[in-house]
Amino acid sequence: MSNQKKTALVLGATGLIGKELVKIISENEQYEKIHLLVRRSIEINNERCKTHIVNFDELHKYSALFQVDDVYCCLGTTIKKAKTKEAFRRVDYEYPIEAAKLAKDNGVETFLIVSAMGADVNSRFFYNRVKGEVEDSLKKMDLPSLHIFRPSLLLGNRDEFRLGEKIAEKASSFLNFIMIGPLLPYKGIHAQKVAEAMANIAQANKRGAAIYLSHEIDKMTTN
Ligand SMILES: NC(=O)c1ccc[n+]([C@@H]2O[C@H](COP(=O)([O-])OP(=O)(O)OC[C@H]3O[C@@H](n4cnc5c(N)ncnc54)[C@H](OP(=O)(O)O)[C@@H]3O)[C@@H](O)[C@H]2O)c1
Repeated sequence: MSNQKKTALVLGATGLIGKELVKIISENEQYEKIHLLVRRSIEINNERCKTHIVNFDELHKYSALFQVDDVYCCLGTTIKKAKTKEAFRRVDYEYPIEAAKLAKDNGVETFLIVSAMGADVNSRFFYNRVKGEVEDSLKKMDLPSLHIFRPSLLLGNRDEFRLGEKIAEKASSFLNFIMIGPLLPYKGIHAQKVAEAMANIAQANKRGAAIYLSHEIDKMTTN
């Protein structure tokens, strides 16, 4: 691995995966500067991290911040929080695509994004369809290095309470022992593992596009 220092930009740094990711990469000596694009103020005590409060509807205004090596996109919302399908799509499709365009314009080497298990443009479920659409659009952009992570149910401590996810988390802990063979991709995965896998693959300097399923993400980490 080269000793040359890298720079990164993170979208979604305040989320379950995003927070874990920032913890991991801010301790990585490889990075000399990490820009965090957020919509509200946050406290980060690391001199390599710089927080920028931005209006995500006007990401193009922050194009200069995309002059980095790696862009990590951990953005996402839920239909419940977004209230409308249109608002959901804005966060889960439009913002990531705009970020990828800015990344490409600025010569970013590696773009990493959290999608979801079941992402499929032909899905009858809106959520999976939007995830499939964002993946497809990203693949068509021909980015030098594109890494798409498709975790199953995310495990970890959220600031907010999500009943559906809590029930699924409990069920998953009971059913973990039968999650083998073809069921492996459905096994819940800790947000920290997803973050670690993203950070690891960004250091691998792989070219082209790749998709990682949940059980593959699991294998990409040491913990
Ligand atoms: N939950 C699961 O079980 C699951 C499973 C598979 C895949 N995923 C996907 O994994 C990704 C990350 O999930 P997560 O649970 O870590 O997400 P999360 O905790 O909900 O965090 C989402 C991030 O997106 C930001 N965000 C949301 N709405 C925004 C808006 N309108 N403008 C700007 N920023 C906005 C949030 O900022 P604020 O903190 O300011 O709200 C936060 O930083 C998502 O794409 C999700 O769909 C989730």
